[in-house]
Amino acid sequence: MTILITGGAGFIGSHTAQKLLENGNDVAVIDNFNNYYDPRLKRYNMSLVQKTASDNRQTAELFEGDIRDAGFIGSVFEKCAPDAVIHLAASAGVRPSIEDPMLYVTTNVVGTANILEAMAKSGVKRLCFASSSSVYGNNKKVPFSESDSVDNPISPYAATKKSGELLCHTYYSLYGIGIACLRFFTVYGPRQRPDLAINKFTRLMLAGKPIPVFGDGTTRRDYTYIDDIVDGIVRALDWTKNGRYDIFNLGENNTVTLSRMIGSIERALGKRAEIIAMDEQPGDVKQTWADVEKSRKVLGYEPRMDFDEGISRFVQWYRENIVLFD
Ligand SMILES: NC(=O)c1ccc[n+]([C@@H]2O[C@H](COP(=O)([O-])OP(=O)(O)OC[C@H]3O[C@@H](n4cnc5c(N)ncnc54)[C@H](O)[C@@H]3O)[C@@H](O)[C@H]2O)c1
Repeated sequence: MTILITGGAGFIGSHTAQKLLENGNDVAVIDNFNNYYDPRLKRYNMSLVQKTASDNRQTAELFEGDIRDAGFIGSVFEKCAPDAVIHLAASAGVRPSIEDPMLYVTTNVVGTANILEAMAKSGVKRLCFASSSSVYGNNKKVPFSESDSVDNPISPYAATKKSGELLCHTYYSLYGIGIACLRFFTVYGPRQRPDLAINKFTRLMLAGKPIPVFGDGTTRRDYTYIDDIVDGIVRALDWTKNGRYDIFNLGENNTVTLSRMIGSIERALGKRAEIIAMDEQPGDVKQTWADVEKSRKVLGYEPRMDFDEGISRFVQWYRENIVLFD
């Protein structure tokens, strides 16, 4: 199969592309290498994807451009004629979405509509869409289940992800596209986005700098190791062949406080963190915790990574690749 991955030079996209290539698929990547974080990291990710392609005698074709450009997207679909799409390209991050909501609306809503339109026009029938745990907002009932209400987002980012899920349902309903909307819960591991806390704290602590901690350390996240996410995406992609629409949580079903996360990085680095206490940030949810029973039953998803082991793997990767962050 040829699988088109939008955002394929990013953190989750590049790992997903490598796994699909190892499984004997060809991939096509759309990415605009924007500077939300250092584009050299994205080029590096893409070079790993291309190496995996050549090691496995498969192809990984890069289409450099913007998902907001409908004409560009249409031409990519014509050139690579994908069998399925994994749509990960997005403006990600909660706090920056408050600063620049229009960027999030155009990338995440208009961009997603462009992908769905191109699929409808070219008859591509299978899609995985990257949604987010942030759609659950500050829901009180935990763990978060796919059947819970997600009508109360508290950031523009969350609202655009919920909008993406709604657009996906519309295109499933109109054109019979099989679609899995995947609600990722904070993903970490080698090549994690540098703006996310685990990466940022590791970088600052190694540089002997203090870390900014928002709130009193009791906020909680269900941190999901990259290999578990990729396994979930691959399983969900297979599931899309039945032509249905559904939503799946991809998390670890394990919620970890911010204080515990910092402790785990301290142990992995053998270094104490110096903390600068900051106020809680608007838009940040108090907790996330994934109920993964549906993903287990329907997809056979089985997250495996122990949190401290995952952190230790990330820190080891970071130490070996620190040159990438200079
Ligand atoms: N990492 C997480 O913890 C997490 C959690 C929930 C949801 N998600 C979602 O998963 C997806 C991937 O996240 P990631 O952490 O790998 O992020 P990432 O920023 O590393 O990857 C996204 C990629 O998309 C590209 N991109 C952005 N805007 C684009 C545009 N307009 N046109 C073309 N390419 C564009 C970027 O250059 C980047 O390479 C995103 O949709 C994100 O919202 C991530």
